[in-house]
Amino acid sequence: MTIAADPVKLSKQEVGRAAAALVQSDSIVGLGTGSTTAYAIQFIGERLKSGELKNIVGVPTSFQAEVLAKEYGIPLTTLDAIDHIDIAIDGADEVDPQKNLIKGGGAAHTREKVVDYLANRFIVVVDGGKLVDRLGSSFAVPVEVIPMAITPVMNAIKKLGGKPELRMGIKKAGPVITDQGNMVVDVRFDSIPDPVNLETTLNNIPGVLENGIFVNCTDVVLIGEVRDGQPVVRQM
Ligand code: 5RP
Repeated sequence: MTIAADPVKLSKQEVGRAAAALVQSDSIVGLGTGSTTAYAIQFIGERLKSGELKNIVGVPTSFQAEVLAKEYGIPLTTLDAIDHIDIAIDGADEVDPQKNLIKGGGAAHTREKVVDYLANRFIVVVDGGKLVDRLGSSFAVPVEVIPMAITPVMNAIKKLGGKPELRMGIKKAGPVITDQGNMVVDVRFDSIPDPVNLETTLNNIPGVLENGIFVNCTDVVLIGEVRDGQPVVRQM
């Protein structure tokens, strides 16, 4: 494969490679969503093809992950057919020092949360630009909402002090529609001092399906960086 020239792409590529190397034969693997996880899916597929890895089955977290897994020859299953997930690999939009996350940049956080939380080992793959001292510093919290409840949910979020914005499509007129047929509201907060509490509070608003705050679930954070032109992967 070609080596990415852009430092962020190179970081994503190498951290994806490092995560794929953690997958062992005879395991059930949660396949995350996004540009970083896409590299992990590619490298898992390459290890399978070469025979280095055997008897892997993937659980996709999105339509994108499903398409990529098929492209790279990873057999797929569903949660109805298995009783556990050995390892899940997924990206994140923000990671705090406690390994709490904001996810949902790809509007896939609902399925991601289901799969990632079920995994015995949850590996997060990010480039160094995703590390923050406090969640919400640079990224809004994505909230998946059923369409008929958009207005009351946005009003409830405003009462909590959030600034909600309906996520609009790119190269598509109108809002982004999730894999579940719902919409996403991106919510800016001045500060998120208590992510555990905010995750629960947002999910308790009627009409909210799931939000992108992931707490107390990450086992390992792998961080890809480029130093002196060379890609380096370190563990948080
Ligand atoms: C999708 C996600 C992604 O994992 C997150 O947005 C990170 O994506 P990328 O690796 O492209 O930066 O949560 O819903």
